[in-house]
Amino acid sequence: MKMEKINTNLPDMICMRITRNCNARCDFCLAPPQGINPSLEELKYRINYLLNLGIKTIHFCGGEPTLHIGLRELLIYTHSMGGKCKLTTNGICIPLDLPKILFHTKTEIKVSVHGNKELHNQLTGTDSYEKVIENLQYLVNSGVGVSIQTTLIRGGELIVDEMAKFCIKERIRRLSFIPFLTRGKGKMHHETFSFLKGEKRAIREHIKRVRRLYSGRVDIRWLDFSLVPFYVVDTDGSLIIEHGTEEMDEKLFTIKIEN
Ligand SMILES: C[S@@+](CC[C@H](N)C(=O)[O-])C[C@H]1O[C@@H](n2cnc3c(N)ncnc32)[C@H](O)[C@@H]1O
Ligand code: SF4
Repeated sequence: MKMEKINTNLPDMICMRITRNCNARCDFCLAPPQGINPSLEELKYRINYLLNLGIKTIHFCGGEPTLHIGLRELLIYTHSMGGKCKLTTNGICIPLDLPKILFHTKTEIKVSVHGNKELHNQLTGTDSYEKVIENLQYLVNSGVGVSIQTTLIRGGELIVDEMAKFCIKERIRRLSFIPFLTRGKGKMHHETFSFLKGEKRAIREHIKRVRRLYSGRVDIRWLDFSLVPFYVVDTDGSLIIEHGTEEMDEKLFTIKIEN
């Protein structure tokens, strides 16, 4: 990782990892479980700091953000401070009262579904598919703005069409595909998951065709974070520009309560 430097040229949205606990074990995970779970006080301090820097949207992620006991309070706090909230979840554990708070705080939520039951369970190392779909339907029926996010590994073109049909059936208006990044636990599975030369371009072209086919019914997006770096506050408070590989990452500074 490159040397620490100050950069005030920040994007409107920052991804905040509020925990590195998780109830799944995805083989591709770019931020695998480490058991780190910052306090609510520390997380509120970071949110306040980011909003004061002019950040407009806090995108809560992890680890699995629904496992942090303070998630509800963080959403309400961010909303009350004028910030916009987004949340990405694996959808395994959606507490009964959460949709009400997501609705009230106008939080946009992305639920990660990685294909059909067999593939999803295999990739996440769980038997959670049915629970995830049940929770997804609960969120949709609660009026929360929900989209689906799918991580695509090599061979993923086979599930693109299926995921689009799934979204239409479940009344989901947006579907984002993220091509596999060789980061975190994913580095161990690089040979199986990474696209071979030319494959990524081919799958992108395939997605363009599927997008046209289902235009007006589901908005299909391609989010290649190896091309567009993302800004993350990790659980230790460090603000990092994350690229396609960890070697390219740039740490900007650390946000921590002064003692
Ligand atoms: C790190 S997870 C955190 C939130 C939550 N635990 C989840 O899985 O939705 C955020 C998103 O990144 C995706 N993701 C994780 N590792 C990835 C990788 N190596 N390449 C591409 N996407 C990845 C996940 O599928 C998920 O949609
Ligand atoms: S991708 Fe999300 S659900 Fe899967 S192990 Fe990582 S943090 Fe957990």
